[in-house]
Amino acid sequence: MLNVALPKGRLGEKVYAMFEAAGFECPSIKEQNRKLIFENEEIGVRYFWVKPSDVAIYVERGAADIGVAGKDILLEYEPDIYELFDLDIGKCRMAVAAKNDFRDDPQKTLRVATKFSNIARNYYASKGRDIDIIHLNGSIEIAPILGLSDVIVDIVETGTTLKENNLSVFETIVPISARLIANKASYKFKSEPIEAILQSLARMAKEQK
Ligand code: PRP
Repeated sequence: MLNVALPKGRLGEKVYAMFEAAGFECPSIKEQNRKLIFENEEIGVRYFWVKPSDVAIYVERGAADIGVAGKDILLEYEPDIYELFDLDIGKCRMAVAAKNDFRDDPQKTLRVATKFSNIARNYYASKGRDIDIIHLNGSIEIAPILGLSDVIVDIVETGTTLKENNLSVFETIVPISARLIANKASYKFKSEPIEAILQSLARMAKEQK
């Protein structure tokens, strides 16, 4: 049985459609219920819906053989997994944003509010900039408005959230997209189905170009 962790939500539905097209269908997943695990015994695949930020944990610890996780999560938690393929969906960017009239004073420690402390720390360390990280769990955009931080490091997709809160992007740190990841042991011992999915996803990506 190949265990596949899918990120719950709209992205996960897109991902499942790709896996289905790759020949790993599981019709019961489309039933309207609140089940979290779905199995197609005939072809040996089991899907489960998990919180997007938890996919890498399931895969790293082998509860899932493969899964799909955002590059943001992989950069933040640095799980010990193989990153196999860029699915080119769920695209956005990790950026530094601040109030529209913000001017950086390099003499001062920069206060950075973020859910992505590791990414922020690495980014500013590479620039040799002194920072103070304020770790938040959501609604990061509020921090600079209330004076809790100077800037934020967060995901920007359409830019609407920033715009509607009078914030703008000052620097782009890295582009983000969804990645197919595999548990290291599974990649060795279940190489056949994993390779089949990988090849098929690669073929589909090529056809779309
Ligand atoms: C993310 C991110 C921004 C928003 C960006 O939030 O933190 O708030 O999406 O999208 P936009 O550029 O299209 O407006 P998410 O919905 O993941 O919730 P969060 O508040 O938990 O971060």
